[in-house]
Amino acid sequence: MKKRAQVGIVGAGPAGLMLSHLLHLAGISSIVVESRSRSYCESRVRAGLMENWAAEMLIATGAGERLKREAMIHEGIHLAFNGEAHKIDFAKLIDRRVYVYDQKEVVTDLIAKRLGDGGEVIFEVENTSVHDYQAGDRPVIRFTQQGQQHEIECDFIAGCDGFHGICRASLPEATWREYDRVYPFGWLGILSESPPPDHELIYSFHKNGFSLFSMRGPELSRLYLQCDPDEDAEEWSDEDIWNELETRLQGVRPLKRGRILQKGVTQMRSFVCEPMRFGRLFLAGDAAHIVPPTGAKGMNLALADVRVLSQALDAFYQKKNEDLLDAYSATALRRVWKGQRFSWWMTQMLHRYHQGEYAEFDMKRQLAELDYVTSSTAASTSLAENYVGLPIA
Ligand code: PHB
Repeated sequence: MKKRAQVGIVGAGPAGLMLSHLLHLAGISSIVVESRSRSYCESRVRAGLMENWAAEMLIATGAGERLKREAMIHEGIHLAFNGEAHKIDFAKLIDRRVYVYDQKEVVTDLIAKRLGDGGEVIFEVENTSVHDYQAGDRPVIRFTQQGQQHEIECDFIAGCDGFHGICRASLPEATWREYDRVYPFGWLGILSESPPPDHELIYSFHKNGFSLFSMRGPELSRLYLQCDPDEDAEEWSDEDIWNELETRLQGVRPLKRGRILQKGVTQMRSFVCEPMRFGRLFLAGDAAHIVPPTGAKGMNLALADVRVLSQALDAFYQKKNEDLLDAYSATALRRVWKGQRFSWWMTQMLHRYHQGEYAEFDMKRQLAELDYVTSSTAASTSLAENYVGLPIA
C-alpha cells in the first residue's frame, strides 16, 4: 500500500514521537514507523531525567498532564565520596530544577497524544528501508507488515531509530564520519521495591567503583553499579548486588533493601555521527549520537534535536525558507558536543579506572576534582547549569 506524508519518521522513541507531535502542532503531516510493538516501547526501562526546558516543552505542548502530576522535581543532586554526600544545589545556585520522569512514561504519553490527535504511528513494521533522499525531492520509506509491502512517499525523512537503527546504517560510506569513545566499564542497573536512600539522586565515587542511587517513586529505587562492560547481569545474585551497593554507599546514607524487579547491564559509550543531515534525510537522537548515562543527557539531546528540526521544517513549509534546514546539523551538533563533553566529564570524574598505568594517580586526581567541584561555587555552578540543561537555541 502507498501512503503519503510531509515527513516520514523512522522510530517511535522520544525523538520520533516528539517530532511528530511538534509537526502536528505546526500543521505538518507525518507518519511514524516503528519495528517494536507499542507495549515494548511503553515498557522499556530507560534513564529518567529531564532537563527543565524539556519537561516544560512537554507541558507547553499539551503532552505533560501526567508529568505534572507524577514527575518528581529535584532541586539538586548529591556527589558522594570519602563516605560523605555533598549537595550540588541547583535551586540555590541557578534557581533551576530537573524532573525525574522515566523515558518510557514520556513515550507512553506521546503515543497516547499522537493517537488521540489522529496521528499515525505504525508499530511492528519489518524490513524498513529509506530511499531517494540524496537527490530529488521525493524520498521514500519502505517496510513490510505481515508480509505485505508498504511505502510512504514524503518530502523529508527523519531518522529517529536509535543507535542500532537502519537510517544511519543506510548512509553511503564516506558521506559521514564518526567520533567514538568506548569506556572500560558498564553499569549494572536494578529496579527495586525499596525506598531510595535520599529523596534526590546520589552519584557516588568509591574505590570499588561508581554507583548511582536514583528512583522512580517513594518506594521504587533505580540503582546502578559500575561493573565490567561485558558482565552478565544474571551472574550477580541479588545478595551480591545489595552488598556492593551498600559498600559503595557506606557512611553516606543507610540503604534499605527490597525485591529486585529488573536487572541489566548497559554499555558506556560516547558516539557522534557528523553531519546529521544527508539531503532530505535528517538524523536525530541516538541515531546520530549517544552519551554515557552519567550526565543524564541521552533523551534530552534527542528532544533538543527534534525541537530544532521541527522549527526548521516549519520555516520551510510556512515561508519556503530552507536556511534553518541547512543549519540543522551545525545547530544540533553544537548542543550535542556540549552534552558529549559534560557526559564524558561526569563519567571520567566518577568512575574508577581499575587498570592502567595511571589508575592510582587518577583516583587521587578524581578525589581532588570532586573536592573542588563540591567546594567551589564556580565549579558547582558549572555542573549545575550543564546538568539542568544549557539554554536552548
Ligand atoms: C535514572 O534514574 O535512570 C538515571 C538518572 C540519572 C542518570 C542516569 C540514570 O545520570
